[in-house]
Amino acid sequence: MHFAQIATVGFSGDGRALELIDQTQLPGKLQVLQLKTQQEIWEAIHQLRVRGAPAIGIAAAIGLYLAALEIETEDQKSFLQQFSQRKAYLASARPTAVNLFWALDRMERVAQSHIRLPVDQIRDLLRQEAQRMLEEDAASCRRIGEYGSDLLREGDGVLTHCNAGRLATVRYGTALAPIYVAQEQGKQVRVFADETRPLLQGARLTAFELYQSGIDTTLLCDNMAATAMKNGWIQLVLVGADRIAANGDTANKIGTLGVAILARHYGIPFYVCAPLTTVDLNTPTGEEIQIEQRSPEEVTTLWYRERMAPEGVKVLNPAFDVTDHSFIAGIITDRGIARPPFSQTLPALFSQEGI
Ligand code: MRU
Repeated sequence: MHFAQIATVGFSGDGRALELIDQTQLPGKLQVLQLKTQQEIWEAIHQLRVRGAPAIGIAAAIGLYLAALEIETEDQKSFLQQFSQRKAYLASARPTAVNLFWALDRMERVAQSHIRLPVDQIRDLLRQEAQRMLEEDAASCRRIGEYGSDLLREGDGVLTHCNAGRLATVRYGTALAPIYVAQEQGKQVRVFADETRPLLQGARLTAFELYQSGIDTTLLCDNMAATAMKNGWIQLVLVGADRIAANGDTANKIGTLGVAILARHYGIPFYVCAPLTTVDLNTPTGEEIQIEQRSPEEVTTLWYRERMAPEGVKVLNPAFDVTDHSFIAGIITDRGIARPPFSQTLPALFSQEGI
């Protein structure tokens, strides 16, 4: 099957497994996995077989529904107890993207608020909730695309970092959604994709999905972004987010902060694209965001034929950094574009009625 026809993440045909594209195999191999056990799902999130904040949330929601199928008791109290244990286990897969916790909490609330129903009915409500979240994510990303495409002019060069495309969400992506919508509108934009060391989400995933969609895409090593900006090739920066604090400070893939600083230097607007499910009003500032630290081998060895650093050398491998809100021109959400001061404009988006 062609990439365009395969969902990044979703239910298997019989509804009894989590189905996802194994992103560790891209771009060389397009492999779809069907996962059933909690260990398999935890491993897939931890190892980035499924990655990107919204996609992780959906995978976890489906995973927790599958956990509900596994729990054998029909006693509601015991069901809820075992369900919460499995929720805690899935929540331990990665610490930074708030969508993981948001999705698991939402599933738990469904179980808690229907605890008087027969367990089979609770299971069915959990399935419906995960399905609703999947559909909502696609709709949110579409709206981000529509708001964001208004910022794009014919011929613009857009720099992006990591992968915040359809491989990071159910459909469209966040940072790439404006580009897909612009393409639908017949607007030509050129995308410059940072390769994104050390895990190469830009090279392996962003370049892959944009190229598959026929979008004019140029791959850059991360250290070439300054040159691209200095040469006047970049008119706008669009990046995704893993967690946005109440003041607008934004955790995203390591290297995003450097891009924001460069953009400020060259007077290029820097926008974050994210659904409100990535905005965490309970986290006051970026200081409180836990940054995932990953294994040194991802830096020294993973993509090389042989080790490329001396044995025993100290290695830093934080998976994310926090861009200070002062570098961000706007946050393109599914409810419109928040502008500074974010501590006022972000809460206002949550309180909009009926959207
Ligand atoms: O470690 P990853 O690949 O999960 O990191 C992903 C990112 O940093 C994305 O930019 C972010 O999750 C936004 S995805 C729409």
